[in-house]
Amino acid sequence: MSPRFSRRDFLKTGVTVGAATLSGRGLFSGTVQTAPAVSGALRVVSSGNGIRATEKAMEILNKGGDPLDAVIAGVNIVEDDPNDMSVGYGGLPNEDGVVELDASVMYGPTHTSGAVASIQNIKNPSKVAKLVMERTMHCLLVSEGALKFALAHGFKKENLLTDKAREAWLRWKETLSDRDNWLPAQIRKLPEDLQPVMMTHGTINCIAIDAQGRLAGVTTTSGLSWKIPGRVGDSPIIGAGLYVDNAVGAAGSTGLGEANIRTCASFQVVNFMGQGMSPEQACLKALESIAEKTKLWPRALNLVNAEGRPSFGLNFYALNKKGEFAGATMWSGPKYAVHDGRKNELRECAFLYKTK
Ligand code: GLY
Repeated sequence: MSPRFSRRDFLKTGVTVGAATLSGRGLFSGTVQTAPAVSGALRVVSSGNGIRATEKAMEILNKGGDPLDAVIAGVNIVEDDPNDMSVGYGGLPNEDGVVELDASVMYGPTHTSGAVASIQNIKNPSKVAKLVMERTMHCLLVSEGALKFALAHGFKKENLLTDKAREAWLRWKETLSDRDNWLPAQIRKLPEDLQPVMMTHGTINCIAIDAQGRLAGVTTTSGLSWKIPGRVGDSPIIGAGLYVDNAVGAAGSTGLGEANIRTCASFQVVNFMGQGMSPEQACLKALESIAEKTKLWPRALNLVNAEGRPSFGLNFYALNKKGEFAGATMWSGPKYAVHDGRKNELRECAFLYKTK
């Protein structure tokens, strides 16, 4: 901040601009976007692992609750669940066997956001992200700083590494190389359900609109399994893992974060909706542009298959101001969860390429 404009002045300005809404979200609550609300268009959209999140969030919206509180309460169910190994407690660890979590939130009416990255020992990073938004002037806190901030707000340190996640990590370590001191992994048989989780980048995203047309979103994850310690994915990056524009819509993502960060794709999805595309068209257009960029990426990144197509999974979820929604994926197969106010269900994602 320049010496001519101190933080104190900045805060004062914030208070002046946002006086009418200071009791609302965020330190700098300012102008509330003015696109007309679509009365009654309650919607909650989430990734395929979010069917309990959409149920919970809709329950809160139906009682007149705030959409950000609703989506966070929804994803907290999955963060707390040791059986979802891509998020929160029970998430797969980094290459050192340490669980590091990323999360972001964004609130449409104030266009404010908060996020944490590489936070350890706190099982609900989405709640900490909300506090970053509401109790600081920052957008993103990482690692030790994020943990200290969470502890300052009364969060308790917990061991997030479940036995199941530790076993999976151990298995990965044992099979990594035959030139180390770990004996071959076949001496320890893993349960069936651990076989598919040897290398994952799961996540949960949840976005919602309430009866007043207020949009909000959250994305939370344990990130890429076995990642290099300190690796941050797309989930806590606004514009990549999540983006909300209260005048247009909201979008979020799950899948390989590196591909998403390099293309700011959630921002692109919202931008495309702002240009008049439907949520499905917008998601597919973003996927298409990522697929194009993939061709430029060095072969060593291993992000392109023999046919020149992306070798990774990436999914987008979008919701516009009218309450229209979609889920779309690079390769067919994934589903997304949606509660449209009447029914909570999983639906097939639209896709760019058909899985063979
Ligand atoms: N999308 C989750 C991650 O890549 O970390």
